[in-house]
Parts: sequence; structure tokens; C-alpha cells
Amino acid sequence: MSNEAKAPKARKLVIALDGPAASGKGTLARKLAQAFDLAHLDTGALYRAVAAIVLRAGINETDEDAVVLAVGQIGATKIEENELRSTAVGRVASVVAAMPKVRAALLDYQRNFAASPPDDKEGAVLDGRDIGTVVCPAADVKFFVTASVEERARRRHAELQSRGERITYEAVLAELRDRDARDCNRAQAPLRQAEDAVLLDTTELDIETAFRQAVDIIARRKGLGVSASPARP
Ligand code: C5P
Repeated sequence: MSNEAKAPKARKLVIALDGPAASGKGTLARKLAQAFDLAHLDTGALYRAVAAIVLRAGINETDEDAVVLAVGQIGATKIEENELRSTAVGRVASVVAAMPKVRAALLDYQRNFAASPPDDKEGAVLDGRDIGTVVCPAADVKFFVTASVEERARRRHAELQSRGERITYEAVLAELRDRDARDCNRAQAPLRQAEDAVLLDTTELDIETAFRQAVDIIARRKGLGVSASPARP
């Protein structure tokens, strides 16, 4: 192998998206990754995977030393999308995400993903709660994506119903309020907008409009074009 091949790849573009559950940040992150040909990491899926393993194994979700062992099993555990996205897994994810040892165990993986994206991509889009504040504080562009809790509950309720989970709108609303409170009030890496993050409120903004706004901001800041132009109405 030549020296050139061993040299670390220069990091080109890192985009951070943070925000509460069902704010639209995941959809936006996927679309931005596709438009700019970047790798995408849904960091919430990491915490959800830990939670799913904890639930399956019947581990006490408040036992930090037992829970942190589940982090090492993520790569070896097959978890279907329906299980990963379930309400029960989301709730436990926000409980285990408040544990410093769990956050520490997942930090390097996330930072490495941003610094050396897979598939030879020239950058990465990461979405979560603490990307702009803790995981990638030097990200090139940061967004804080939010929406009213009622609108988020409406979206999450529709999504869960389409997945076959039987749950009322009121139960989803209560669950999101609980999860927001846990995510915002925890001591470590609480959910908050980074000072240099652009706020995108999607309460009354459809995803295409939010996407176009985000693309314009990234393109303007970085002087970039997009490989997959957003469809214009
Ligand atoms: O984004 P999603 O709703 O799938 O995340 C599930 C949970 O994982 C969140 O409620 C939060 O507690 C936790 N999380 C986190 N930090 C991240 C991503 C997710 O604490 N970067």
C-alpha cells in the first residue's frame, strides 16, 4: 500500500442536525445526505439499539454498569425497524441516554464516523440531540430542527400507526413530553440549540420547504452545488 493510500482522508463537510423527537430532523438529514452525497448517521438509532438490547435481555434499565455492556453488543445484534422505532424502545433510549458511561461509550464511534465517513464519502450528516454541542462542535453547518409538541405528536402517532403500533394520540403526546423533559434536563449533553446553529421550525413548514431552506444555507456557506437538486414545484 502506498503512503498516499494510508494518509487519512481530508474531512470536507460535516453537517449537524439536532432537535427533539419527530421534529423532522431525521428526514431532513437523509435528504441532505443524498443531495450533497454525504454519509448519514442517525445517532438516535445507537441509543435505541442499546435500549432494545436492554429490553430484550431484561437488564435493569437503571443499572448503568449493566446497561453500558449492551453498547458492545450493538454490532452483533439484528434489530428490526419496527422494534427499533417502537414507543417502548424510545422511552428506554432516553433513560439510558442520560447515563454518562453510555454516552462516553458511543462518542468515539460518532466522532470517527464524522471524521472518516464510510463508503469514501467526502463528509457526513449526523442527526441527534448533542451533535452540534458535543459530538461535532466544529461542524461546518449546524441546524436545530424543532416543531410544536402537538405537531410532533401528530406526526409520530401517524408513523406508529402505519407501523401497526396501537397507541392513542394522547399517549404519544404524553410520551413525547416525558422524553423532551428527560432529554432537556439531563446533566450530560442535554438537548439544546448550539449558539451557532440555524433554527428551523417545521411546525408549519413542509419537509420540502425546510429541505430547500437548509440546502440554500449550506450551499451559501460552503459555496457548494448539490448533486441531486430538490424538486421545484
Ligand atoms: O432521535 P431518536 O428519537 O430516535 O432518539 C432516541 C433517544 O436517544 C432520544 O430521546 C435521546 O434520549 C437519545 N439521543 C441522545 N443523543 C443523541 C441522539 C439520541 O441522547 N445524539
